[in-house]
Amino acid sequence: MKTPRFLVTREIPEPGPSILEDAGDVEIRDGMSADELREAVTGGEYDVVVSQVSDRFDSELLSKARIRGIANYAVGYNNIDVAAAAEHGIAVGNTPDVLNDATANTAMLLLLGAARRAHEAAKCLRDGKFTGIGPKLLVGQDVTGATLGIAGMGRIGKAVARRALGFDMTVIFTQRPPEDRAVSDDELDDLAGRVRQVPWDELVETSDYLSLHVPLTEDTTHLVDADVLRRMKSTAVLVNTARGPVVDENALVSALRDGEIFAAGLDVFENEPELADGLADLPNAFLLPHVGSAEVGSRAGMARKAAENAVAMARGEKPPYEVTP
Ligand code: DGY
Repeated sequence: MKTPRFLVTREIPEPGPSILEDAGDVEIRDGMSADELREAVTGGEYDVVVSQVSDRFDSELLSKARIRGIANYAVGYNNIDVAAAAEHGIAVGNTPDVLNDATANTAMLLLLGAARRAHEAAKCLRDGKFTGIGPKLLVGQDVTGATLGIAGMGRIGKAVARRALGFDMTVIFTQRPPEDRAVSDDELDDLAGRVRQVPWDELVETSDYLSLHVPLTEDTTHLVDADVLRRMKSTAVLVNTARGPVVDENALVSALRDGEIFAAGLDVFENEPELADGLADLPNAFLLPHVGSAEVGSRAGMARKAAENAVAMARGEKPPYEVTP
């Protein structure tokens, strides 16, 4: 059998490179432009691409691609037209589970940071404006006893729910908004009886914190739009660790500026790495640069799963963490 050739579009941590090197020849790039990616994918030089969420594989590119598989270094795969890949016999894989805890930790970091005005507080200190403890200094929203609404009770949503219960929050959820289906106690595992499923409208209108954990699809694009933001409590905090386009970012800037909601904690953006005009200037926007899964163990787990997928694809086998249309 010919030695497989792997292209890794951006450096990934160990054990990814070692697993790939044991199985074939590996080229690791330092990020690729759309043109560079196109050239590499259509050139016939590589068997499998280990990609990032910023690498776009649309149907046009996939129709010309000369590769066997795409091993996405992420659990999300909205950057790949999976149906078109299947049509052209190109396997697709992702890295589920290993980042559930890290992403849930990030959601809590954003929730607490936005509620307790961490960004403003840190800035106050660094700008030399801290003149001593004050009863009215940087007072934020209550967390204990507040209601957390989770949109999307999948693996990450559940991990967030467990953490929130530890903070003595009340947890309500919808499964796949805006449409929903009833979630059984079996599916809720240890959370059965501790969380309550509600309609999307109730989630929007009664949550003190609304945390998004849905995949990006046509149905969830701009799930949180100007109308939803208007219906949220004026004291509410929006948390997004899912995908930027789930929120209409321009509408969010207006809502934060006009005090329609209290604050937002965001790890993902509509047009990454760009931010909507005005967002970075808002004191009530607590922003992180898409680092939801950035814990050592998570990233190593993602590297292992992506590499295992890539090796299987190069051998013409079904990848262990396969994504199908
Ligand atoms: C994912 O895995 O989908 C994250 O957004 C990238 O770390």
